[in-house]
Amino acid sequence: MTALAFPRTDAPRRTSDDERARILQNPGFGSSFTDHMAVARWTSESGWGGDGIVPFGPLTLSPASAVLHYAQEVFEGLKAFRHADGSIWSFRPEKNAERLQRSARRLALPELDTESFLASVRELVAADVDWVPDPAGEQSLYLRPFMYASEEFLGVRAALTVDYCVIASPAGSYFPRGVQPLVVWVTDTYARAGAGGTGAAKCGGNYASSLVGKQEAAEHGADEVMFLDSSTHTAIEELSGMNVFAVTDDGRLLTPRLTGSILEGVTRASILRLATDRGLEPVEERLELARVLEDVRAGRIREMFACGTAAVITPIGEFRTKDGTWTVGDGGSGEHTMALRELLTGIQYGRVEDRHGWLTRLV
Ligand code: COI
Repeated sequence: MTALAFPRTDAPRRTSDDERARILQNPGFGSSFTDHMAVARWTSESGWGGDGIVPFGPLTLSPASAVLHYAQEVFEGLKAFRHADGSIWSFRPEKNAERLQRSARRLALPELDTESFLASVRELVAADVDWVPDPAGEQSLYLRPFMYASEEFLGVRAALTVDYCVIASPAGSYFPRGVQPLVVWVTDTYARAGAGGTGAAKCGGNYASSLVGKQEAAEHGADEVMFLDSSTHTAIEELSGMNVFAVTDDGRLLTPRLTGSILEGVTRASILRLATDRGLEPVEERLELARVLEDVRAGRIREMFACGTAAVITPIGEFRTKDGTWTVGDGGSGEHTMALRELLTGIQYGRVEDRHGWLTRLV
């Protein structure tokens, strides 16, 4: 199949310069959207087509669309970064394309080839280039590709009509408090995903499943929730939308091994590669909660952090469980955590040499 080209139809009315400048002053996360979106449609008869960049606006969806009933949906998250010379780049976008393909396979959705995925992102950013914030303050344009079963049909089977869409949203810090140490509640009531389930796929259902855990966390005064494995409830998996890392006093950087129920984070994989640049030994293994909490209390684990495209790298200052409270290090932002953050964002914003060849120019 030839890759989709996403030809543009300009929005008849664009956000005014003043209004856009007001939004970009303090974009927060996920609440403002640009003037265009990318769309394409797949049918079982014709494959992918109907691609374009069109004005941002409501989707037309039958109330009988399969996605509304059976959650046949997958999505991605990546960012466009403006460099000091005005050029715009994204970070390992082919990894997002590949993960969207894996997620689509798991949810019985059609795969979108990498070239078409990259074209959708590139053409959308080109259309809304004025929405990519200046690098000051570590702002970026968050891109949200997603695919859903739009077929009007209530039988339980893979949909024969599927829509793909990319929307863009200027983003500052994911957390309302900024890059401040998180308080994390460890739930033993809920699990996010189970063996053989959809945990490794980036599908809306996993996030829906995490919400009640987040509510439980909020009831305990915490910012985030940590989920354990669903079969033994003893091993750390991930937070509601972030992978998790620990730094030990003997220079190891620990993260839960991918088990099929943990999201294969692009930021997670990149941090594992950057660890050696910081003189840390990356270790992927089963992380028993009891051992981690013991090591936190004994000072053998000095730092912990959450990571993801949206969260970047955010320190974890404290854990709360039904049995008590554990302060990580001095409860502040750890030295390795913040250095890894600086290294990662340095590459993303073009301040640090991209030795791994991770950046793709968009505009
Ligand atoms: C991302 O980090 O891009 C995600 O999709 C996670 C979500 C918490 C915003």
